[in-house]
Amino acid sequence: MRLIYCCSALLVLILLPTTCQSGNILVIPTEGSHWINMDILLQALHSRGHNLTIIRSSQNWYIKDSTYYSTYTVPIEIGFDKEFISRIISEIIDFQRGALPLTSSFHLAVGMLGTLTEAHRGLGEYLSGMLDDKKFMRMLNDTKFDLVLTDPCWGGGIILAKYLNLPLVYNVRWLIPEEAHLAIAPSPISYIPVMGSGLTDKMSFLQRVKNVIFYVVSQTQKHLVAKKVYQKICDKYLGPNNDFYQLMIDAEIWLMRADFVFEFPRPTMPNVVYMGGFHMEHGVIIMSLGTFVSELPADMANEIAAAFAELPQKVIWRYKGSRPDTLGNNTLLVDWMPQNDLLGHPKVKLFVRSANNTDG
Ligand SMILES: *[C@@H]1O[C@H](CO)[C@@H](O)[C@H](O)[C@H]1NC(C)=O
Ligand SMILES: *[C@@H]1O[C@H](CO)[C@@H](O)[C@H](O)[C@H]1NC(C)=O
Ligand SMILES: *[C@@H]1O[C@H](CO)[C@@H](O)[C@H](O)[C@H]1NC(C)=O
Ligand SMILES: *[C@@H]1O[C@H](CO)[C@@H](O)[C@H](O)[C@H]1NC(C)=O
Repeated sequence: MRLIYCCSALLVLILLPTTCQSGNILVIPTEGSHWINMDILLQALHSRGHNLTIIRSSQNWYIKDSTYYSTYTVPIEIGFDKEFISRIISEIIDFQRGALPLTSSFHLAVGMLGTLTEAHRGLGEYLSGMLDDKKFMRMLNDTKFDLVLTDPCWGGGIILAKYLNLPLVYNVRWLIPEEAHLAIAPSPISYIPVMGSGLTDKMSFLQRVKNVIFYVVSQTQKHLVAKKVYQKICDKYLGPNNDFYQLMIDAEIWLMRADFVFEFPRPTMPNVVYMGGFHMEHGVIIMSLGTFVSELPADMANEIAAAFAELPQKVIWRYKGSRPDTLGNNTLLVDWMPQNDLLGHPKVKLFVRSANNTDG
């Protein structure tokens, strides 16, 4: 008898991986530049056999029809357009140019409060439009998705996942207006610079004061947007005791568009998966001829640059000579690079060096 249990347990273990290989994924993306990296992530998921379904609004700018995902198009105009985004960007530039360094971003943050809430209100209407459409929601519920994948710089995916009772996975760097680590991990602002402050992890007393001001402003923004837009939707559609902020930080997996090579040291969480650079499907080539060969004859440099330009990989080339004419848009010239750190990165496919480069 025990043997039979044992065998069936073994059978389950053997069969398990083959039966749960491909998932049925509901994707709630963000329009604009955020779509570019989501698209690459989706291509990778599709190539591994997952079934992808995207929800987009009929006012879509970048999310086109494709063979590797199916789409539901919600017939709704989001309350802002490309001109609105351009206006925000020029406001940011004006604010940053206008005022004194310490106060500029403070002005910006306060000045942006109205704009930010306005933008999220538009997105909130789009979300309510979906939730009001009982037929649409029933169809989503009946499709039996395995999880929701979303970019949480707006609240749509978070609330839909809760409504459909599905696990939530983020493709994330930003949560509504804050850097994602700030929400999920303990973040002592004595040594963690708040984004936009331009500070590092080594701060003087006055710099810390500045950091605190930035922190307070960004928290105020966050609470205002959450309270004025998303909490109302939670209360209406999810019933009582669903705190939007709690739902937001409860996501199961955070695929973080960052690489610790470029980060200041800070606490993180075990469900954060760092995937910075994942969009470089073809990997990276690095080239350094060492400290002694910093320049090459122009014709030789041109030939090397032309050869690199034809490759699908990105190239980082430590080179101090003048910029070769044939340099491709995939090649970055640098005076110096953290060679050992780069070599440790799994995306580095090839290292071109001279025989006597002893730097690495
Ligand atoms: C893929 O998702 C669509 C919903 O968009 C669903 O109709 C279809 O049955 C799914 N296919 C598989 C193999 O699960
Ligand atoms: C989704 O479907 C399940 C049954 O499969 C049902 O119990 C649940 O209430 C439905 N949820 C919604 C939000 O319609
Ligand atoms: C880079 O150059 C290639 C070929 O010269 C071109 O096809 C591609 O569009 C360029 N990419 C960008 C981002 O400019
Ligand atoms: C490295 O090689 C270059 C070119 O062959 C030569 O000029 C240079 O002296 C060498 N440097 C060392 C440290 O051996």
